[in-house]
Amino acid sequence: MIKGDIVVRGGTVVTDSWSGPATVVISGDRISGVLDGAAEVDAARTVDATGMLVLPGGVDAHCHVGLPLGAYTTRDTFSSATIGALAGGTTTIVDFAIPGPGEDPLAVLRRRLAEAETSRCDYAMHGCISSPDGSIPATVHAFAEAGVRTVKLFTTYRDLLMVDLPTVRQVMTALSDVDGLTYVHAEANDLVEEAQREAERAGRIGASGHAGTRPVAAEERAVADVLGAAEHTGAPVYFVHQSTPGAVDLVVAARQRGVRAFSESCPHYLTLAADRYADPAAERWVCCPPLRDRSTVDELDRRLEMGFVDTVGSDHCCYDSVQKAEHADDVRQMPNGMPGVETRLPVVFDRFVASGRISAERFVALTAAMPARLNGLYPRKGTIAPGSDADLVVFDPAATRVVTAGALHMQTDYSPYEGREVTGWPVTVLSRGRVVVDRGAVRDPGPVGEFVAAGPITAGG
Ligand code: URP
Ligand code: ZN
Ligand code: ZN
Repeated sequence: MIKGDIVVRGGTVVTDSWSGPATVVISGDRISGVLDGAAEVDAARTVDATGMLVLPGGVDAHCHVGLPLGAYTTRDTFSSATIGALAGGTTTIVDFAIPGPGEDPLAVLRRRLAEAETSRCDYAMHGCISSPDGSIPATVHAFAEAGVRTVKLFTTYRDLLMVDLPTVRQVMTALSDVDGLTYVHAEANDLVEEAQREAERAGRIGASGHAGTRPVAAEERAVADVLGAAEHTGAPVYFVHQSTPGAVDLVVAARQRGVRAFSESCPHYLTLAADRYADPAAERWVCCPPLRDRSTVDELDRRLEMGFVDTVGSDHCCYDSVQKAEHADDVRQMPNGMPGVETRLPVVFDRFVASGRISAERFVALTAAMPARLNGLYPRKGTIAPGSDADLVVFDPAATRVVTAGALHMQTDYSPYEGREVTGWPVTVLSRGRVVVDRGAVRDPGPVGEFVAAGPITAGG
């Protein structure tokens, strides 16, 4: 008889390439077998997954923990953010080492890796380059040696993080040498600042006017410019938080020309619309890019349904309602972003799988397999296969929940989805063989999360 420490039986195993009834055997921190549903297994513990989906642990490739940006730092720590991640079925996060003005990107990476040692789940890290200088190739090679093969660049946030196109091309070229991937926040800053000046003149610079301060054209022009850089250098590129169907279409068209280009969107761009900015607490939904109007959201959803969006990341930024409200009268001063690492899987499952718009396999591709591939973590993360880490989510596809901040674990007092009823919720979560959510109860495993070094990123090649 096959032996293991834990056996998960009775459920429908789902990966990005197949799904069906199967028994998963775990030995130590790895999956040791994926067997026929009827296989007999001798294990100390059985997790009954009858009626459930058994998914690979979610991989959230866009997570800002304790993010210092401008005058504000998000409220959470690696410990609280990763407890929230686990509670929501995400077992690997990828955070960012974002330098403040004048800081050395490698020193910031070392500091972030030290801070991340309190993580409850595994983590990887993106580097970030925010000031052009002659050391870009050396910095990128040092990142790769440290297990970091993704570097985030911003085309906006002047005086904080913004870089120009020559810098984008230099980073792309250097990353190509190490089989890495450039992550880009694409918004044309000149158009953003022009729109902000216009909004100020019109008395609409507060949170309720946010959508008008960062226009669709700013996002789409920056995406086109950066795709030009990718085409010119022959390097791959990944666009974070795409919020418009036009931005996704630009990526798809570039892909048809042979550019290795990838599109990430976020649960909020796929489900929430700019009518949120009519709420008296409009600031809670201020993020960059902003939420778009309902018809744009519907068209973006269609792109995801058609298979044109590659990943869904949370862009988790755990500010609380007091921080968000402090400068609600001026979006140039207030903190951008919203909490979401814990709600990513249920919100996306509800919107697309429970409603019958995409398959469970495609859901796994968007939330686990592709993020793992595009961060050099696959197949250790993002799938259910012998040898992979034992990161599993026993997910009830029929459970309905009303999202409320008080029942979540993230270090904030509000959720952008407050009051939303969703269908589909994680029941039991295993993280490298530990049961960290047990039939709904979170069991804090302590600071056991490990840094996962990124291997070469070859997807789409
Ligand atoms: O509004 C956002 N997205 N804030 C977080 C920083 C970023 O741009 O990703
Ligand atoms: Zn961004
Ligand atoms: Zn972000």
